[in-house]
Amino acid sequence: MRFDVVTLFPELFAPFLAAGVTRRAFETRQVDVRLWQLRDYAEGNYRRVDDRPFGGGPGMVMLAEPLARCLAAVKADRDDAAPVVLFSPIGERLDHAGVERWSAGAGAVLLCGRYEGVDQRFVDTEVDLQLSLGDFVLSGGEIAAMALLDAVARLQPGVLNDAGSHQEDSFNPALDGLLDCPHYTRPEEWNGLKVPEELLSGHHARIADWRRTQRLAITARHRPDLLSAARAAGRLTRADEDFLRTL
Ligand SMILES: C[S@@+](CC[C@H](N)C(=O)[O-])C[C@H]1O[C@@H](n2cnc3c(N)ncnc32)[C@H](O)[C@@H]1O
Repeated sequence: MRFDVVTLFPELFAPFLAAGVTRRAFETRQVDVRLWQLRDYAEGNYRRVDDRPFGGGPGMVMLAEPLARCLAAVKADRDDAAPVVLFSPIGERLDHAGVERWSAGAGAVLLCGRYEGVDQRFVDTEVDLQLSLGDFVLSGGEIAAMALLDAVARLQPGVLNDAGSHQEDSFNPALDGLLDCPHYTRPEEWNGLKVPEELLSGHHARIADWRRTQRLAITARHRPDLLSAARAAGRLTRADEDFLRTL
């Protein structure tokens, strides 16, 4: 899959693409990320990419023309009709189901906004989808693009050291859609706090049962909506329901 990222700050992506477990996906081009410097598509000595908003008010607005020119270059370089995504607080909220869809697709063109945002005429005519990272405002779309790329990369086969590890992460509907259980590592006692004895028992069924009940309890406490969704999807067993009644 291929993601073309249009940004005024391509240098922000270099350390991200070279770090951590997802590096493999980017280096092997399993997730092929191409960076496009928007300013290269601006005109004049100043290579201007923004201007003052009509109607007045604070901040600057990204010009439609450099974005259109850059997008045309990206499209000419791709041999598919990849969706054009603009990161924006008004967009559809990115979630696990969305990440799964992107991770099974052919990629996209990712547009990173800056300033007050993008001239609406460009959005109306060139953007297929707006995506938000959450109900807060970032200074630019780059962190949102990295969040999407990271989440997509770790779902690619062979990227995580342990192939099963993302299966047990939070939100995975193939498992149960619940939140993850707590994790512990050495030492067995730290600052007077002990690791739950079930995890030290060496008894697989007991460990699995402890993890399951922890997932249920944590989800019930923090995200009852996910518990309701799991119930509606028939992902809760009678034993799960019996346990939930004890909480
Ligand atoms: C300062 S923000 C613009 C905020 C815009 N004036 C508003 O209030 O909705 C600049 C850019 O950051 C990106 N951005 C900001 N918050 C975001 C979020 N929650 N999710 C995704 N992208 C975001 C967008 O690309 C946006 O164009």
